[in-house]
Formats: sequence, C-alpha cells, structure tokens
Amino acid sequence: MSRLIIVSNRVAPISEGGPAAGGLAVGVYDALKETGGMWFGWSGDVLTSHPEGIKLEEHGPVTFATIGLVRRDYDQYYRGFSNATLWPAFHYRPDLIEFDRQEYDGYCRVNRWLAEQLAPLLRPDDVIWVHDYHLIPFAQALRALGVKNRIGFFLHIPFPAAQILLSVPRHRELVEALCAFDLLGFQTEPDLRAFCDYIETEAGGSLRRDGAKPVEVRAFGQTLRAAAYPIGVYPDEIAALAKDGESGRDVEIVKATLHHRKLVMSVDRLDYSKGLVERFRAFERLIEHDSRQRNNVSFLQIAPPTRSDVDAYRDMRFQLEAESGRINGRYAELDWTPIRYIHRQYERPVLAALFREAHVGLVTPLRDGMNLVAKEYVSAQDPDDPGVLVLSQFAGAARELTAALIVNPLDIDDMADALATALKMPLDERKARYGEMMQQLRENNVSVWRDNFLRDLKAGA
Ligand code: G6P
Repeated sequence: MSRLIIVSNRVAPISEGGPAAGGLAVGVYDALKETGGMWFGWSGDVLTSHPEGIKLEEHGPVTFATIGLVRRDYDQYYRGFSNATLWPAFHYRPDLIEFDRQEYDGYCRVNRWLAEQLAPLLRPDDVIWVHDYHLIPFAQALRALGVKNRIGFFLHIPFPAAQILLSVPRHRELVEALCAFDLLGFQTEPDLRAFCDYIETEAGGSLRRDGAKPVEVRAFGQTLRAAAYPIGVYPDEIAALAKDGESGRDVEIVKATLHHRKLVMSVDRLDYSKGLVERFRAFERLIEHDSRQRNNVSFLQIAPPTRSDVDAYRDMRFQLEAESGRINGRYAELDWTPIRYIHRQYERPVLAALFREAHVGLVTPLRDGMNLVAKEYVSAQDPDDPGVLVLSQFAGAARELTAALIVNPLDIDDMADALATALKMPLDERKARYGEMMQQLRENNVSVWRDNFLRDLKAGA
C-alpha cells in the first residue's frame, strides 16, 4: 500500500487517545495510521536563524516532520500573503486585502523551500495530500523538483467568485499553480462552480463533466480533476465527549451562574469572517424588542485570539470589545450580564460539554468554508432534550444542515427572530430537527470525506 503524505501549514498535535485534537486532525491521522506515512508542515516556531533541517518524530507508523520559519518567512508567507491577502479575498472581503509584492514573492519562495525540504523524504509511490491556502504553489514547486507522485489539494476555506478573485494581484499565477495538482477538493458545490467559472471565463480553459465523477479541467497545459468534498466530524465521539463532561467543573460553574436562564452559545476564532459584531447586535435586538427575554437568557461568546499581528484582526478585537461593553452597559442588571464575551481558548472536551448545556448554538459567519463548530454543536446535544442550531446561509455547513434555522447574518432582525423562535421551540420539533441533522452528520463523517478524496486522488493514477 502506498504511503500517505499530508502537508499542511499547521501540523496537528496528536496525543494517542487524547481528546485535544480537532476532528480533521483525527480523521487525517487515522488515515495515516492505516497506510503509514508522514505529516509535514510548519512547527509553529519563529526562529532567528534558518533551521538546521526538518525535525522528525515517530509515532508508530506515522512520522511528524516539522520545520521552523525565520521571521521574514513567517511575515511574508504566513502573516502577509496568506492571512492579509488570500484570507480576506477568499472570504469575500476585497476591502480588507493588503497586497505587497515582496510578501507574494516570499509566499512563493517559502512554498519552494518547503517543497525542497520534503522532496528528499519522498518515495516514488507516496500519495501526497496538501491542505489549504498557505500551500497553493506547493505542487508546482514539487513538480519543478522532478516529483512525479499523485498530489491532491483540499481547500478548507471558500473559493471566491471570479470577480472577487480578480482583485487579488497575481490571481492568474495562483490558479495556474492550482492546476499543477492532480485533484482539487472544495468544501461545497458553489466553491467548485466558482473555480470552474474562473477556469472558463478567465483562464481560457475547458471543463468536462461526467455524471457524479470529478470534473475534468484542462487549463494552462495541464489536465486535472476537481470536485466538492464537504468535510465532516465524528458526531458520536463528540456526543460521548460532551456527555462525559456534563459534570465537569466548567459546566457546573456555567450552570450555577446561569440560575436557570437559557443559554445561547457561540465559539469562533476572533476573525472578521465570523460575523461576531452582527451577532452581538442580533442578541441586543432580541432583548431590546422583547423585554421578557431580559434576565431570562444569556449569551456566551468564546472567541480565542488568532493572527493578532494582522491589522484587521486587531481592529476587529477593539470593535468587539466596544460592542459587548456598550450592550452590557445598556442592559445589564445587578444579577445579569447579557453577553459573556471570553477572549480565550478552551479545550475541546470543555467546549463539547458546554455546547450540550446551550439551548441555542448561534453560528453566523459572514463567510465560511464549512464551519465545523456548527457540526460539533449539533453532535454534542442531548438526544432527549436537544438545543437548536441557528446557522448562517453563508457557512458551507448550511448546505447539509438544512434542518437548522438558517439566517442571513447581515439581517440583524432575521437573526433576532430566529433566536426568539429557537428559544421557544417545542421539544418535538427540536428532536425532529436534531435527528435529521445527526443522520446527515453520521452519513458524511470525516472518514467518508477523507476516503472519498483519497479514492478519487488514487483513481486518476
Ligand atoms: C482556518 C484555516 C486553517 C487554519 C485555522 C487556524 O480553519 O482553514 O488552515 O489552520 O483557520 O488559523 P491559524 O492561522 O492559527 O493556523
């Protein structure tokens, strides 16, 4: 059996049997264990001088291969082009794009350098699976070194409409680089369509569709395939985690301080794509319009810090602090704080247990490739008394979780109405919606996602 090589900017910390890693990490790690292989990426360290070489760590049949980045590479490749140019563009925020030619050059240079580090470790029949927007030029870089292996790419974030992509300088080079992969995976059909549209209208390429098979793409002198593979979770494992944590300390504290009030809950990295300010305003609208809700419901927003050295993220943080302060100042009572906003990271088991306590999961990104929090919230519910998911139409997950209350995150009243509906939804309806969503989550769990992608990647060999 050929080995699997996973390449991603961050290499998940996996502790055998430990619950800390996310579903994606676990799903990918399972596949690695089956075939044996390697997970290669950035160690997370920012160094003052170039690293001596890759650090290799063996965990049974899996090797973790990581390497540090020097400050300039981190700035140009990660903070700069990946997170200040590609991230806003791919999340439909061209207004936030910062472009610097040197950063773009640095992004390409780091991709080439990473490819040079990996190439000597490869065997001829290895299958290589590259993840996410940091590594768009990676296959092209490997090909330039003479690597002939199958190389697939999965984009975890949205692929923007062609007219948005055009606002990224050097967009053509980026799409040409994507065409050096053998298989491209997107989260949803609209992402796939956006890519295909660019190929036909901007790149002068052509497409061939054959039923349910991946689309065959011809462009830039390459032939490759592309399809949508919506990523999943392991719903039953999350359910078990949530149940186990029921009597944990954090859950007890939340329960004790809620005093039987209902709980609305959200967890997101503090990112402008997540629609946090709009969400705070929707909660405000709820308590503004219906005074009976005041002192009867609390909103818990956990928003761990992320990419705080990118300007747009700093601005976002100030805005959110101001907004929660304003709303709490206006509505708080001696014994009730409407919004509990926590700018800190919690372990996954704690979050799962808290999700189970929450009557409403409020997941309202302005744009999101998939949004696994939506899937985790549903998975964590008590089947006998499930909460309600309120979900943005712009999260990839909304295409599968159609039994959620689907909202437009730019329509504050729409979100406030959905919150009111969720808070008074009868048990029968909650159970029916939960049952439908759990079935969907079980059918398309993270193993299905991974196996479908790898099957198609190998099938083209
Ligand atoms: C998103 C991206 C991932 C990224 C994660 C955390 O989910 O799709 O590739 O790893 O955010 O962001 P960070 O910049 O901390 O890696």
